[in-house]
Amino acid sequence: MSTIEDKNQDSSKKQVEIDEATNVKLLGGHEFDGIRELDNRLPPFLKYLFYASIVFSAAYLMLVFVFEHDSVIQEKEYRNEMMAAMHQEEPTPSDGTETAAPVQRTQEDMLASGAETYGKICSVCHGKFGEGLVGPNFTDEYWIHGGSREDMHAVIVNGVIEKGMISYKNQLTETQIQDVITYIQSLKGTNPPNQKAPEGEKYVPQQQEEKQPQS
Ligand code: HEC
Repeated sequence: MSTIEDKNQDSSKKQVEIDEATNVKLLGGHEFDGIRELDNRLPPFLKYLFYASIVFSAAYLMLVFVFEHDSVIQEKEYRNEMMAAMHQEEPTPSDGTETAAPVQRTQEDMLASGAETYGKICSVCHGKFGEGLVGPNFTDEYWIHGGSREDMHAVIVNGVIEKGMISYKNQLTETQIQDVITYIQSLKGTNPPNQKAPEGEKYVPQQQEEKQPQS
């Protein structure tokens, strides 16, 4: 049974413990295999850095959890930037649902992107102006595989290997494919020189919209 005197003796013994080699006070409370810790002073710069980090963290936590300031909430920051980019004044939904605004692309953007893809890849076979060369003419109303966007999409994705058109599924993104289709559609009726003779069936857009099979 330990008495109060015993405890006092213990603590007073710890207080006076001084390391013999360095003459520095030893920390009490823990020891491992006879290894003790010296009660060294921290260098002042480190101490103040530590205090500063405590002050900073308190301020930061306030900002995040109390004020929910725009500059520290990523989601808000993102939404603000998107909204600024779109010049829209939509109220931010407060329930936290992520409403990623679709990127607005104009017809010009699509045509420009489509023209770029076309000039780089397709013009070699379909002609600089879509007049047709190895591949068919894009400026007339006649299509071998159908003139709807879906038909063109299928040709671009699957290719027509036996006729020399490879699949562009791995070279082009879906957006690039859609854009190049938009570009090809814009060529209709442009009547460039040296046109290749019409091939395939005449395509009338309304027919396709009613989902009638082409004869
Ligand atoms: C190596 C030559 C070659 C290249 C490059 C090429 N094509 Fe073709 N393309 C052809 C040929 C040949 C056909 C005709 C296939 C047939 O007769 O069935 C064709 C057909 C098509 C058709 C269907 C035309 C129709 O009348 O139904 C579309 C759409 C098309 N190509 C789009 C493209 C696009 C878009 C690109 C560029 C990403 C491209 N092609 C690149 C050779 C090429």
